[in-house]
Amino acid sequence: LQKSRVTVVGSGNWGSVAAKLIASNTLNINSFHDEVRMWVFEETLPSGEKLSEVINRTNENVKYLPGIKLPKNVVADPDIEHAVKDANMLVFVTPHQFMEGICKRLIGKIRKDAVAISLIKGMEVKKEGPCMISTLISEILGISCCVLMGANIANEIAVEKFSEATVGYRENKEIAEKWVRLFNTPYFMVSAVQDVEGVELCGTLKNVVALAAGFVDGLDMGNNTKAAIMRIGLREMKALSKLLFPSVKDNTFFESCGVADLITTCLGGRNRRCADAFARNGGKRFFTLA
Ligand code: NAD
Ligand code: 13P
Repeated sequence: LQKSRVTVVGSGNWGSVAAKLIASNTLNINSFHDEVRMWVFEETLPSGEKLSEVINRTNENVKYLPGIKLPKNVVADPDIEHAVKDANMLVFVTPHQFMEGICKRLIGKIRKDAVAISLIKGMEVKKEGPCMISTLISEILGISCCVLMGANIANEIAVEKFSEATVGYRENKEIAEKWVRLFNTPYFMVSAVQDVEGVELCGTLKNVVALAAGFVDGLDMGNNTKAAIMRIGLREMKALSKLLFPSVKDNTFFESCGVADLITTCLGGRNRRCADAFARNGGKRFFTLA
């Protein structure tokens, strides 16, 4: 049996937690190679040390996930080409704006039998119209790409609080089930639906509603108004998704990627926090997110 090798491309807050989840499973499931490579966008810490070296020495991403130990089989690698070269399962989890450049760098550098999954919540808006990140990955690299979205605030999953997630796939259910096996743990319950665009659009568009929810909080408009924003926001997410991709299914909005992610992001997400701070400061003062 050829064991699958996994590389996580990205090592921010969610990227590091995803590597933790995956690495706990690759140790226990025979069909996966134990080691999980994690590409790190290299940076020098105030101590003068390189982030990737500190992660490998301490098993902790001290910048993006401080206080959480990563399994020892997570290996940080600052060289992206080296990080992906042996992997046949590629997990993309960077902020969306870096993906086009990353994919272009990876042309011809990945295995021919590689498959991908995107955990990235966002889209590229081009002159020709919106382009989903999974489509960008598929088109530039010529590989199939599923998505995983859900009510997944990374810091909560890092301390193993229960949550659910949704894998969206286009046609190959077997590949989707392999991704489910790779991510599923007793505290991270993953299910798959055949609606890649629906799942990805939920993860993308809920961020816009979260900004509105943050403005409502910042203006102290109350819970009823916030609930209205969430309800109307969900309805608009569905309408826009179906306008862009008529194949999007109604049921997808009732999965973790839909209503559940909308709720958690409007309660505890960074976009909500950002908009709250903006409204409280009258939009005048620059603020930083801790
Ligand atoms: P993050 O916001 O914590 O960190 C930013 C990352 O971007 C860091 O790893 C940094 O090194 C990297 N970076 C900075 N400049 C770069 C460059 N020029 N090229 C490449 N990388 C660069 O990241 P995150 O939380 O892992 O978010 C990644 C994706 O996951 C986003 O699409 C986000 O919406 C999604 N997501 C996040 C959460 C969460 O709770 N954090 C949950 C679900 C989904
Ligand atoms: P924020 O990026 O707004 O923190 O949302 C995280 C998230 O996607 C939770 O599922």
